[in-house]
Amino acid sequence: MTDTATIAVVGGTGKLGAAIARRLAKAGRKVIIGSRSAESATKAAAELGFGLTGMANADAARAGDIVIVTVPFAAQEATLAEIAPHVAGKIVVDTTVPLVPPKVMRVQMPAEGSAAQRAQALLGEGVTLVSGFHNVAAHKLATDEDIGCDVLVFGDDKAARGKVVALADQAGLRGIHGGALANSAAAEALTSVLIFLNKTYKVDGAGIRITGELIPPEA
Ligand SMILES: NC(=O)c1ccc[n+]([C@@H]2O[C@H](COP(=O)([O-])OP(=O)(O)OC[C@H]3O[C@@H](n4cnc5c(N)ncnc54)[C@H](OP(=O)(O)O)[C@@H]3O)[C@@H](O)[C@H]2O)c1
Repeated sequence: MTDTATIAVVGGTGKLGAAIARRLAKAGRKVIIGSRSAESATKAAAELGFGLTGMANADAARAGDIVIVTVPFAAQEATLAEIAPHVAGKIVVDTTVPLVPPKVMRVQMPAEGSAAQRAQALLGEGVTLVSGFHNVAAHKLATDEDIGCDVLVFGDDKAARGKVVALADQAGLRGIHGGALANSAAAEALTSVLIFLNKTYKVDGAGIRITGELIPPEA
């Protein structure tokens, strides 16, 4: 898949999805915002600009080559069930952090090991699951600032993972291969730590940065 691949952002009316969609559209990608309501999707797309379009989640998933899912953990199962008929053979990028309010500063992983593994189990093996964007604050991503944040990307298919690393780069972040899908648990869990740091140290959206010189792997 090349840079001409269409990106669908399911739940793209929300904080993280809208910010990712806007940055990718601004970078020249064709991006569709999905919502439970086609009307809300169209409205959000028009407000964000950069040629974004909006449609109902299922239609967006059908039209997308790469489908990014940005919904709360509590909505993950229902949302994946809605798009499942339309994502066979595609890359689905799950951004879900398994936060269970009210204790969002405490790591609470699902029985599957991570939200990403739960997504793979819900969608089945016919879908190439990749996860990422767990540790970037949406309100910072919604700006045009260089937020200097790394995005760890997980997935069992290295080539698919590489495409999502490239998407993170296009969004003005630094995408980094984080290894197997099971490793997603580390980044998902870290988000609760970052929320704790935001509160404890009064940080306006803590993120992560890997130290050392990184030499990108062969594609
Ligand atoms: N916010 C952040 O800074 C951040 C950072 C890293 C990772 N994440 C993760 O990214 C995901 C999205 O976070 P967010 O803050 O963007 O969420 P959000 O703004 O609260 O919600 C995103 C979208 O999900 C849809 N949605 C909400 N409740 C739903 C429900 N009960 N059933 C179905 N759809 C529902 C809504 O879209 P429609 O009403 O238009 O359908 C909403 O606009 C979460 O898993 C979060 O943990 C967030």
